[in-house]
Amino acid sequence: MSRQTATEVTELDLSVNPVPHLSGGMVSAFFTPEEQKSAAQKALTEYSDNLIEQVKNADTVLITAPMDNFGSPSTLKARFDHLARAGVIFTYTENGSEGLIRDTKVVLVTTSGGFYKDSVIDFHVSYIKHFFSFIGIDDVAVIYAEGLNMRDEHKEMALTQAKVALEAI
Ligand SMILES: Cc1cc2nc3c(=O)[nH]c(=O)nc-3n(C[C@H](O)[C@H](O)[C@H](O)COP(=O)(O)O)c2cc1C
Repeated sequence: MSRQTATEVTELDLSVNPVPHLSGGMVSAFFTPEEQKSAAQKALTEYSDNLIEQVKNADTVLITAPMDNFGSPSTLKARFDHLARAGVIFTYTENGSEGLIRDTKVVLVTTSGGFYKDSVIDFHVSYIKHFFSFIGIDDVAVIYAEGLNMRDEHKEMALTQAKVALEAI
């Protein structure tokens, strides 16, 4: 008898439903002690808490993101800014910072018009890998679909290879 395991998938399209950029009000809400928070500050903190829970509760976070102007899309950066809360998702110890997320892995599918893999100007993949390592996740698999704005035949080949690599994961 074969056994089937159900996979629950939550899909977030940040280009359609972006999270707001951090504001001074949000940051001060995060740092205000719970018992002193106003109702608005509680709501702001809860919003961010929920975004953190999504990542904490996930076995795997799959990110598909293009390179935009040598870095990550600002919508993804805004999402990360809601995650990286001191004392919640990372902490400072005598030995430096320590990430507090455990048992979540990340798969990143990155697309770009040109070629940047392993180059010093790939601020996109290196940023994402470093960000997750900072919050405690070192298991980040990266699948590249590069050179998509070059010749059409190349684009097709790069996308096919990326799909095969993703299936394998
Ligand atoms: C605003 C913008 C900025 C971009 N910046 C870069 C870049 O810095 N380097 C690069 O190789 N491609 C760049 N591209 C190309 C995208 O990375 C490429 O179109 C995308 O990865 C392919 O996905 P798509 O088919 O959804 O466009 C940029 C595209 C846009 C729209």
